[in-house]
Amino acid sequence: MNIIIFGPPGAGKGTQSNFLIQDHGMFQVSTGDLLRNELKKVSELSKQIKSIMDAGKLVSDNIIYSLIEKKLSDKEIKNKIIFDGFPRNLDQVSKLELMLQKHDQKISKVLNLKVDYSILIKRLSGRISCSNCKKTFNEFFDPPPSNCCQKQEFIKRSDDNEETVSKRLKTYDNETLPILEFYKKQNKVVDIDAMKQITEVRKEIRGIIAS
Ligand code: AP5
Repeated sequence: MNIIIFGPPGAGKGTQSNFLIQDHGMFQVSTGDLLRNELKKVSELSKQIKSIMDAGKLVSDNIIYSLIEKKLSDKEIKNKIIFDGFPRNLDQVSKLELMLQKHDQKISKVLNLKVDYSILIKRLSGRISCSNCKKTFNEFFDPPPSNCCQKQEFIKRSDDNEETVSKRLKTYDNETLPILEFYKKQNKVVDIDAMKQITEVRKEIRGIIAS
């Protein structure tokens, strides 16, 4: 089964994807993470990508499609994919459907993480990840254990500042939210109360996947 984990910036898509990997042996395809990997390269393209991400806008569809195509053609993860951060506009939905057909796959469910926007700035401004194991924590809601890794060093994302977050939320409202309708018409959307504690949300998702 392939699923899309859906929701605004800071809803908990990455956090819950990690549990889906642990609980159900699925594989996460996060376009945000794939783009951040591209940023490690020194190139004209990586400079362009960074300025778009820091402006809270969407990176061009063609860059995204080449990243996704590689994953969909990987037989090891066939029908076990969690799409995190993709698709993000209606063109990406159409392209995903075509790519899925080509690789004889489909989306079974869209897990829609519902959160009040008022909490998102705090979630994102408190987000930290371990520079060694890359695990994500939160200074306010999910502090890291003292023994996370031998060398305790935590990093913040450059797009997690208040100004960029409010732009990311606007982009989400204008371009990403409309794609829910497409999946609602196919009865694939399951709403999840993502205001609950992390472990409660995990339990709810586990129940949905089991059913
Ligand atoms: P991306 O990396 O996809 O970011 P996003 O969608 O904005 O989502 P986040 O990763 O910020 O949030 P999340 O929902 O995963 O939250 P998390 O679990 O970490 O995209 C970044 C940029 O890349 C985009 O702006 C765009 O420029 C570009 N991009 C990416 N994909 C693209 C595409 N397809 N097309 C074009 N451009 C693209 O949780 C957040 C924090 O909250 C953590 O600290 C966590 O510990 C905490 N938390 C989580 N759940 C809870 C809870 N239930 N209670 C309390 N705290 C919680």
